Amino acid sequence: MRTQVGIVGAGPAGLMLSHMLHLKGIESIVLELRSRDYVEKRVRAGVLEHGAMDLINAVGIGDRMMREGMAHHGVNLRFDGETHRIDFEQLTGRGIVVYGQQEVVKDLIAARLEAGGQILFESSEVRLRDIDAKSPTIHFRHNGEDLLLHCDMIAGCDGFHGVCRPSIPDGVLRIHEHTFPFGWLGILAEAEPSSEELIYASHDRGFALHSMRSPTIVRNYIQCEPDEDINEWPDNRIWEELQRRMETREGFRLNEGRILEKGVTPMRGFVAEPMQYGNLYLAGDSAHIVPPTGAKGMNLALKDIKILADAMITRYETGGTDKLEDYSRRCVLGVWRAQHFSWWMTSMLHRFNQHDVYQRQLQLSQLRYVTGSEAAARSLAENYVGMLWDL
Ligand code: APR
Ligand code: PHB
Repeated sequence: MRTQVGIVGAGPAGLMLSHMLHLKGIESIVLELRSRDYVEKRVRAGVLEHGAMDLINAVGIGDRMMREGMAHHGVNLRFDGETHRIDFEQLTGRGIVVYGQQEVVKDLIAARLEAGGQILFESSEVRLRDIDAKSPTIHFRHNGEDLLLHCDMIAGCDGFHGVCRPSIPDGVLRIHEHTFPFGWLGILAEAEPSSEELIYASHDRGFALHSMRSPTIVRNYIQCEPDEDINEWPDNRIWEELQRRMETREGFRLNEGRILEKGVTPMRGFVAEPMQYGNLYLAGDSAHIVPPTGAKGMNLALKDIKILADAMITRYETGGTDKLEDYSRRCVLGVWRAQHFSWWMTSMLHRFNQHDVYQRQLQLSQLRYVTGSEAAARSLAENYVGMLWDL
């Protein structure tokens, strides 16, 4: 088999790249380990920055997002039993859209298949060969056959646990990693949202977050141990803990309902640099992970692809490879801004077991500052809505 760009992974990064290349007449084939049903149902992130929303609209797949996505103009920080709103619109003139990652994935898959694009679901044993040679190849298994895909370039969009990053020879990548001493237990439940906008709660018992997916579906999280056993968390214990951490002096109650899904995710920051080697370009989670407190994961993946698609298109249209050579450098400043913001939000809002009462008072003082000072609130808002990509 032969194509121009071989793409590993059908997450938002891989699918968006395939779609953007197609719009310029460039062929690609996407190899995905899982089934279509699996990737369309997998519950992941849910916040799109203004810039990500613009990209999705610009490439013509934004109709359903504009109809069903929930436009938010701010977020709430809750601590000491009180709620403080950060008004993004007033502070930055921008907002965010709450729209599930798997909805973005569904819209992209539909657009690719409608245009005759090839996504080979359930492709296993993907192996990259000759990534530093002129024509790299991808070996894989599909429908019981061993296949070989020749291409000009490979995009490694296969997430944190994928095979592309480990295909780069030892000694090339610099790895920067920080593991937080906690995880998030996330649920999806059938309930009406209890607030118009997200609520980030910093409580002495630990962090909690109230988010949503639609007027009838909520997504809530509680801070837990990184290796928390989900079997220790029957539904009533989850709701009880959420209610305690979300409590206010005014007697706030979270709407409860049938839990459709639950799972635990560890929290880490991770950056692999440079995000390229030979003819292999890493994008999204395969190159970097952020703790979810800053809601940056999906946005960073799309941001990488905007830069990568532009560089690949330039190569095919003009033969120029300067942009490709500069790919990692162009991404990495934004990656580090997102890392810092996500680490900062995480540090401000979570309970650290090793913290003493002094350090808890520092967190509370920071929360009062960020919600009380317009300058500090604007700093949070600019980062959250994604205005600081190039700093
Ligand atoms: N071969 C083929 N496909 C693979 C392999 C493999 N060996 N390993 C993983 N994949 C697939 C996964 O099944 C997944 O569909 O690669 C895809 C990677 O997609 P994502 O993990 O969604 O990564 P990305 O597109 O970079 O999007 C980042 O995902 O986890 C969230 O917070 C993160 O929102 C961010 C987004
Ligand atoms: C979500 O809705 O899944 C979500 C929202 C905000 C975050 C993280 C996750 O910071």
